[in-house]
Amino acid sequence: MIEASAPHKVILTGEHAVVYGVPSVATSINLRTRVEVRRTEKTTVIHAPPLSTRWVLSKSPPKEFEFMRRIFQVMQDRYLAGIMPNLDIHIHSDVEPGCGLGTSASTAVALTGGLSKALKLNLDKQTINSIAYEGEKITHGTPSGIDNTITTYGGVLSYSSERSEHIKLMEDPPEFSLLLLDSKKDRSTKKAVAKVRNLYNRRRKLVEGIFKEIQEISETLWAELQNSHDWERIGQLLNKNHALLQQLGVSNSLLDELVEIARTSGALGAKLTGAGLGGYVIALPPRGREKLVKERIAQEIGDRVSLVDSSRDGLELVGQLDH
Ligand code: MEV
Repeated sequence: MIEASAPHKVILTGEHAVVYGVPSVATSINLRTRVEVRRTEKTTVIHAPPLSTRWVLSKSPPKEFEFMRRIFQVMQDRYLAGIMPNLDIHIHSDVEPGCGLGTSASTAVALTGGLSKALKLNLDKQTINSIAYEGEKITHGTPSGIDNTITTYGGVLSYSSERSEHIKLMEDPPEFSLLLLDSKKDRSTKKAVAKVRNLYNRRRKLVEGIFKEIQEISETLWAELQNSHDWERIGQLLNKNHALLQQLGVSNSLLDELVEIARTSGALGAKLTGAGLGGYVIALPPRGREKLVKERIAQEIGDRVSLVDSSRDGLELVGQLDH
């Protein structure tokens, strides 16, 4: 059996602005998607709870599997000339799709990596990332590419779709914990991105001004994480970024309330993460007081808060196909 796994991600600063070429900073976390690939005598089937139960490759896929079909298509067209061994593929994720932690990206990356190993293609990370991005386009329309990129490489990364220094991986990123507050509201990246596009088309000057401030936040955050590790300052940067996301129209009363709860419970800073309009809020607890702040938040929102750690691990591939 081959096991491919890829981490979930948290966008620390710069979501939405990144779609317009502004750098965004993201970290991988210690939650992962795992893809198991085995050879089978039967036809190729992909099982991926909690999506529709399964997809038989020879049939047209349920909607939630369409991004995987794209990945299979690209692999077939580029590398396999129509020949594909029969595989039994199981996908498990630590978090549900649609929550803003990059489940679709980690699935796309782990699936591409698993297929590359199963088919003995041994593609490098750059190529796996670019194929996963093809899948992400099916799920999200016009994604910036940050989700699949952080999920492929892991660690702390600054990403800009328009600069020469396109992907910057932090050499020795600090370890830190984050609290995740779950709004329990499903959200669609496509819709949130379209909402910002609409505002951008109507009030371009205003939005460009907001993006400029977000860019400064991302650049300062990068320097703080790399050099000074001033966690209070980092918390303030998260707060500032949330205020700008409010101005972009991607927060709502549910997310604002979670941000407020996190701050009054002792977090150094809090903001929505990812597309917004639902999904998660991230909060930075002071060092050594992670559990205390978590407990205080839990008094308000019960088990909708969890503690995660930043991680350095990107895509990992182990094992081999049985014959
Ligand atoms: C989604 O995780 C982040 C957004 O900036 C969209 C994107 O970058 O494609 C909202």
